[in-house]
Amino acid sequence: MFERPKSGERAVLVHLTFPHISESSDSAEFAELAMAAGAEPVAKIFGRRPAPDPKFFIGKGKLEEIKSALAAFDAALIIFNHELSPAQERNVERETRCRVLSRTGLILDIFAQRARTFEGKLQVELAQLNHMSTRLVRGWTHLERQKGGIGLRGPGETQLESDRRLLRRRVEFIKQRLDKVKVSREQSRRARTRQAIPTISLVGYTNAGKSTLFNALTGAHVLVANQLFATLDPTLRAIELPEIGKVILADTVGFVSQLPHGLVDAFRATLEEVAQSALLIHVVDAHDDKRDEHIHQVNLVLNEIGADDLQQIVVMNKSDLDESFTHGENEDQGNLNNYPPHQIATSALTGQGLEQLLLAIQKALSQETVIGWIQVAANEGKMRALFYQNHAVVEELPQEDGGFNMKIKVSGIKWRQMCQVFTELSSKLQNIP
Ligand code: GTP
Repeated sequence: MFERPKSGERAVLVHLTFPHISESSDSAEFAELAMAAGAEPVAKIFGRRPAPDPKFFIGKGKLEEIKSALAAFDAALIIFNHELSPAQERNVERETRCRVLSRTGLILDIFAQRARTFEGKLQVELAQLNHMSTRLVRGWTHLERQKGGIGLRGPGETQLESDRRLLRRRVEFIKQRLDKVKVSREQSRRARTRQAIPTISLVGYTNAGKSTLFNALTGAHVLVANQLFATLDPTLRAIELPEIGKVILADTVGFVSQLPHGLVDAFRATLEEVAQSALLIHVVDAHDDKRDEHIHQVNLVLNEIGADDLQQIVVMNKSDLDESFTHGENEDQGNLNNYPPHQIATSALTGQGLEQLLLAIQKALSQETVIGWIQVAANEGKMRALFYQNHAVVEELPQEDGGFNMKIKVSGIKWRQMCQVFTELSSKLQNIP
């Protein structure tokens, strides 16, 4: 249903700067995005304007430049690192006789190629349909004008009308499906909290090395590509940690700066689970010039999804590229000492620093606290005694039937040990938000 650039499609990239509009992303990241979508950037056109041109977004001069680049490199696709209005997109298409892709279209394409879970796919389709519906409106008005409107409902218009109706129906259908998926996901999430298995989420800017680290830690084979967005949906794997036991490691989609407006939901849907984690591993490409800015942007999004107060271990990845790591005196330690205590240098590629990371994860999880209320029946005296033995009782309210309503607070480790004694414990706990 949706057009996608075919792999290797030759494209001319256009990136303008405006004095009063913040940049969507730098041109290097833009080129990476284009390649991630399967395009082959053959020319880059830069420019500066006081404001976008209302008709073409770019000026006449740039338009000519684009046309010659298209001809010179035999390209048939123009990708803008901007949001063009539907009319501007169409005008440039008409003028150049080439297909135009905006930043939203580009990212949508990447999402569409990468979405793997059912929900991720639905969210991406919804975003695509929404994006498409504005383009249909454009086609509609355009035809109306061409045909003079009233009384001239030709086949084109009828087609568009039914297209729009189909589109609306599909949007409704997807929304209903999404609601259902959310419910079942919520249930499985509750089940997981009940089992008291902590989730550790790998978060980070796109291309930081999350999937590579995920693989290194789990030995799993997750799609790893030297591309942005090699992962869209959280990928879960269970691993065993000494003293902690079973934990779930979740790989997540990479963050990107200035995500186009209509894509925020699709992106967030894939990150909802992150807020339920016991611990976050924030993976950073330590060798990216913009690493501090990226760290900041990731933290902003974590704040938006309510995950900013979670424990975080910052992993400075790709340390093998660091001179001092491979050639320094502390070969086995690398440049670990250059970072503050909650930061760890790793190389997901060579495995350096992974032992330290696992220890840090263990330490962080052992600091985790479980707190909540539990109804203990009159005949469950042994359970009540176990709470007291573990110094877990904060408050207890005797009930009329001889039972107790007990507020407990205990370390994650002790909690899981108690769950092994009384398997029903985890389902009894009423978490305090
Ligand atoms: P998204 O899925 O786009 O969010 O990316 P990601 O963060 O999952 O990155 P991914 O694991 O796909 O790695 C991106 C690129 O970085 C790949 O080419 C990896 O081989 C490379 N890479 C990952 N870790 C390291 C590392 O420690 N050292 C070096 N030199 N390269 C690494």
